[in-house]
Amino acid sequence: MIHSSSHASPIVVLDFGSQYTQLIARRIREMQVYSVIVPCHTPLDDLVRMNPQALILSGGPCSVYDPASPTADERIFRLQVPILGICYGLQFISHRLGGKVEPAARREYGFAQLEFQSTSDLLAGLPSPLRVWNSHGDHISAVPAGFRVTGRTENAVSVIEDSARRIYAVEFHPEVHHTDRGDEILRHFVFGIVGASPNWFPRSFVEETVERVGEQVGAGHALCALSGGVDSAVAATLVGRAIGDRLTCVFVDNGLLRKGEFEEVSAALREQGHLRVRAVDASARFLARLEGVTDPEQKRKIIGEEFIRVFEEEARKLGDIQFLVQGTLYPDVIESVSVKGPAATIKSHHNVGGLPPDFAFRLIEPLRELFKDEVRRVGRELGLSEEVTGRQPFPGPGLAVRILGEVTPERLQLVREADAVVQQEVKDAGLYSRLWQSFAVLLPVSSVGVMGDARTYASTIAIRAVESEDGMTAGWARISPDLLERMATRIVNEVRGVNRVVFDITSKPPGTIEWE
Ligand code: XMP
Repeated sequence: MIHSSSHASPIVVLDFGSQYTQLIARRIREMQVYSVIVPCHTPLDDLVRMNPQALILSGGPCSVYDPASPTADERIFRLQVPILGICYGLQFISHRLGGKVEPAARREYGFAQLEFQSTSDLLAGLPSPLRVWNSHGDHISAVPAGFRVTGRTENAVSVIEDSARRIYAVEFHPEVHHTDRGDEILRHFVFGIVGASPNWFPRSFVEETVERVGEQVGAGHALCALSGGVDSAVAATLVGRAIGDRLTCVFVDNGLLRKGEFEEVSAALREQGHLRVRAVDASARFLARLEGVTDPEQKRKIIGEEFIRVFEEEARKLGDIQFLVQGTLYPDVIESVSVKGPAATIKSHHNVGGLPPDFAFRLIEPLRELFKDEVRRVGRELGLSEEVTGRQPFPGPGLAVRILGEVTPERLQLVREADAVVQQEVKDAGLYSRLWQSFAVLLPVSSVGVMGDARTYASTIAIRAVESEDGMTAGWARISPDLLERMATRIVNEVRGVNRVVFDITSKPPGTIEWE
């Protein structure tokens, strides 16, 4: 069960398997209204216990006529809470309430023009036509009794409303950015129709979580591995608030961190987070094990294993510890209960699962309900500086996966210095927080150049800069040629051993964000 919190009356999103389900909850939380996602087949009693103030039925990849199509308990329509169906949700509502759904003669994928048909609660005050984002193969051929059609696209009924029962549905996806004014349509539902109050604030989250963790841990002791990233920093600080110095943080320097990161983050968490931080310099061990290794997955495996060993040694030194703090985020939780089946893609930096069996830790996961941007807001609320809360994500295996080929001290030095230039220039240009990630990659390529009057034959740095909402997909950032030039010039001038800089213009998919 996902829902573990005492927050009053969430807007509950029933997941029918759409790739956009997470976005629906994010958009609602951006309005400061608490929202959770549960699988569509969640038993009615569990739904009722959550005391939802509204339900949203997500999109999904199936047709309602497909015998294997995901379904929800029909009694949701009698709960007397407002309901919004999106895409498959609209078809589900139509199908179950006596309308008719058929395969469309023309499928609609991508942009469509939405024409308003009459006065509407959902579309009030918006201009017709609106450009909306569609992805459906079925359409409604007969509208269920009690519903009015308030919007159409060229090929389909697109918006239906039953104001008396407060059941609404749209064929398109208001939660994606491609839909013009989609956020206003959702606001009309959340505030106008549901009457929700914007009361989902970092402060109340912090208060509730600190209280809950305090109860959970009692007089026990907890351990947290810091990675240098935002998630573990915020998780540790929250738990530290609850149990003080019965929390010990272990920050392992694997020698693969960014320039200054180990020192800066350790100091910040001691000073701002009031945490007990054991800083462990294990860089020599990691580098020794990485010698001669070039395969990306092999690097990851070695780094993961070595981390567990160091962490285990430190934990043994500390003695009796009952709890382990992990920075698991909501997307991981949703992923693991998604109606597409358990995808189990917990990222390796969250996964300290390789510990020996005599460590019977119980888990504390204070961020299980949060999206990344909410973690940052909670971090600020806890008094952590922008330097800590605003950090771009950084992979657990660190610079090792940004050095193509062998990881050596010399090559680490090159990529670390080049990366520091990228970071600084991106920050000076005011872009740092707008980019999901921006960094340098050292390629296993030497090329010819000329510096002064001399021929050079030296290494190549690739600059990667991407925009993304969650790291699952990403677009390459259109950063200005002037900024690119400043970075390239500085890297070649300041990083001895580099004579060429290239810029990566691959989006994800088909590329990944990291090069390895
Ligand atoms: P990719 O490269 O798969 O990355 O597009 C998506 C996001 O995940 C991060 N990443 C990792 N994080 N361990 C981690 O903790 C890893 O092995 C790893 N590989 C990629 C990456 O930085 C990006 O934010």
